Amino acid sequence: MCASQLALLPVLFLMLPGGARPQSSSFLSGAAPTSSSGLDPLTNGGTLRPPAAWSPTPQGDPGPSAMGPTAVTSSAPENRTVDPLPVLPTCVCDLTPAACDLNCCCDRDCHLPHPRTVFSFCLPGSVRSSSWTCVDNSLIFRSNSPFPSRVLLDSNGIRQFCVHVNNSKLNYFQKVQKVSATSFQALAAEFGGGSCSATLQPQPLPPFYKAGDPILTYFPTRSIISLLRQPAGVGAGGVCAQRNPAGFLESKRTTCTHILKNLASSCTLDPALDAGSYYNFTVLKVPRGVTDLQNMKFQVPVTLASQADPPVLAGNTCQNAVSQVTYEIETNGTFGIQQVSVSFRQINLTIEPVVSLQQDFIVHFRAFRQSTVAAAAAAVPRSGNPGYVVGKPVLVLTGDLTHSMTLLQSQGNGICSVKRHEVQFGINAISGCKLRLTEVDCSQLQSEIYQILHGSPRPEHVAIFGNATPAQKGGWTRILHRSCRLAAVNCTSCCFIPVSLEIQVLWAYVGLQSNPQAHVSGARFLYQCRSIQVSQNGTEVPLTTLVNFMDITQKPDPPRSQPRRDWKLPFDFFFPFKVAFNRGVDSQKDSPSPLCILCLLLLRVLNLETK
Ligand SMILES: *[C@@H]1O[C@H](CO)[C@@H](O)[C@H](O)[C@H]1NC(C)=O
Ligand SMILES: *[C@@H]1O[C@H](CO)[C@@H](O)[C@H](O)[C@H]1NC(C)=O
Ligand SMILES: *[C@@H]1O[C@H](CO)[C@@H](O)[C@H](O)[C@H]1NC(C)=O
Ligand SMILES: *[C@@H]1O[C@H](CO)[C@@H](O)[C@H](O)[C@H]1NC(C)=O
Ligand SMILES: *[C@@H]1O[C@H](CO)[C@@H](O)[C@H](O)[C@H]1NC(C)=O
Ligand SMILES: *[C@@H]1O[C@H](CO)[C@@H](O)[C@H](O)[C@H]1NC(C)=O
Ligand SMILES: *[C@@H]1O[C@H](CO)[C@@H](O)[C@H](O)[C@H]1NC(C)=O
Repeated sequence: MCASQLALLPVLFLMLPGGARPQSSSFLSGAAPTSSSGLDPLTNGGTLRPPAAWSPTPQGDPGPSAMGPTAVTSSAPENRTVDPLPVLPTCVCDLTPAACDLNCCCDRDCHLPHPRTVFSFCLPGSVRSSSWTCVDNSLIFRSNSPFPSRVLLDSNGIRQFCVHVNNSKLNYFQKVQKVSATSFQALAAEFGGGSCSATLQPQPLPPFYKAGDPILTYFPTRSIISLLRQPAGVGAGGVCAQRNPAGFLESKRTTCTHILKNLASSCTLDPALDAGSYYNFTVLKVPRGVTDLQNMKFQVPVTLASQADPPVLAGNTCQNAVSQVTYEIETNGTFGIQQVSVSFRQINLTIEPVVSLQQDFIVHFRAFRQSTVAAAAAAVPRSGNPGYVVGKPVLVLTGDLTHSMTLLQSQGNGICSVKRHEVQFGINAISGCKLRLTEVDCSQLQSEIYQILHGSPRPEHVAIFGNATPAQKGGWTRILHRSCRLAAVNCTSCCFIPVSLEIQVLWAYVGLQSNPQAHVSGARFLYQCRSIQVSQNGTEVPLTTLVNFMDITQKPDPPRSQPRRDWKLPFDFFFPFKVAFNRGVDSQKDSPSPLCILCLLLLRVLNLETK
């Protein structure tokens, strides 16, 4: 607002004839105060300097000096009441009431008419910030503005006519708002936000449970509505807080300590020890069920999944005290809770003056099983979505069974273990173990060792991306197996057996350079064999497996000159690899050249194949 008016100032000055009185001040008075009295630090002999760019004439130019009175073409009235202290709404540095704070130029306790003459500097915020607006001095003949003005030299030595703007917003503080009964409504409308309502509105019952919601239970015998409890430990001792509610879909285990001071009497009376009190209620399928408690379709009984005998006091022991409670809750989306079962672990407690019993409470939620296929699919975690993540298993497919690529693993004594190492994407690995031969039939031995090397079942396809599912056949590419070719052997008791497997995995990044996705372009299993004597039983043959990942990403040329602003790669610049290994239908409609390049490359990589 101030700025726009000031833009008009010079224009106004130019239009006014030499000796005209400043009627224009009424024009400016609309928003900016016309009086320049009181708050002009420059005319007060202060040391406030204009902004750094407007340095005073260094050569001591007799004409317009920043400090010289001739430089100031001020139209301010000669006789005015001078208030040396800036009128600031808050004097931020006045920290000591009724005492003068050092360098606090707004502190009225200093009783200094001109604080700047006494203080070496003024603390920030203790003087009114100033703002100057300047135009080339040659444009101005006379200033008749109500604001202080002066002629300054800029850094280029050009004389500038500057007006000191009274911009109250430059200071840190605005006038403190006074709130009264009348202004309250207006202020509340301007600054008001959400607030707490005075009275608690009864919440309408939600139609279904959301994660974390407490679960409602109903005791039909006593017509009581309560919550499903999952006691949890509080404090350092972990003493049971019995009323802690379980949260919908929050599968968790809590442990707490139950202190029994008089077990002899509480054995049969304390409900916490009694398995019966953990299932003598029904669970409401959905919270809305509260409205119709007679309708059993909203209620799920808690079924008993283990033996649960009531506590019995027998001699010096309290038998069948509950030490663990496990709820299994089956849910079905917004249809709520479908089934609840409970199982217990009970112990016998010896009666002592103080018995502390540790209790475990497990609440486990599981979604209603859609179908076995979905469950099986869910059982295989992804190795990336879509691109493989380094370190995640390389997915392979045998028939419809997804599993992961594996390497040999040895037991402590070096003999091959039935357990196997998972191949992790992007991580080259080698492993070995010794196989003790018990088989003498050569062909059986061969197939047995192949099996041991590649793992069982034999991987047939490898997932191109980490999120492949068996149902999508396009997401898998066939693994090339190259078994040993039979060597011409002279000896009759010799057997040519595989002793090592090298797995080669070609992979590449595809997609946007900003978010590249690793995908497997192909994999092959190379076996090496050697001839052994199988006559002796118990011969130990060392076997090795290794996996080698080869990055065949085609990187784009780096930008030659300065990168342009929105330099981008085409979306499918890795196109050849992607298409070829997908064997997608898209490959037909595109030019054959990328495919040829690919073929050449593949031939080179897989040239051993044709030997
Ligand atoms: C500058 O602004 C303040 C607060 O708005 C006012 O009190 C003062 O009179 C003004 N001074 C001039 C010179 O306009
Ligand atoms: C200046 O102001 C004082 C009082 O503040 C007054 O007595 C005096 O007459 C004024 N002088 C002029 C020239 O207006
Ligand atoms: C059954 O529920 C009631 C609450 O209605 C409770 O007081 C009682 O101890 C529970 N346990 C058994 C075994 O009845
Ligand atoms: C508790 O004692 C009873 C009777 O001696 C016994 O049958 C039961 O197996 C014991 N329970 C446990 C958990 O030890
Ligand atoms: C979930 O509950 C609804 C209503 O009871 C039922 O129609 C649906 O089949 C259930 N879903 C499953 C997967 O059982
Ligand atoms: C080889 O030795 C193992 C025990 O070391 C024995 O179980 C197996 O029957 C033997 N096989 C032959 C063919 O002798
Ligand atoms: C196989 O037999 C031929 C002669 O029959 C002999 O020259 C050759 O060295 C033998 N090779 C091996 C590996 O024993």
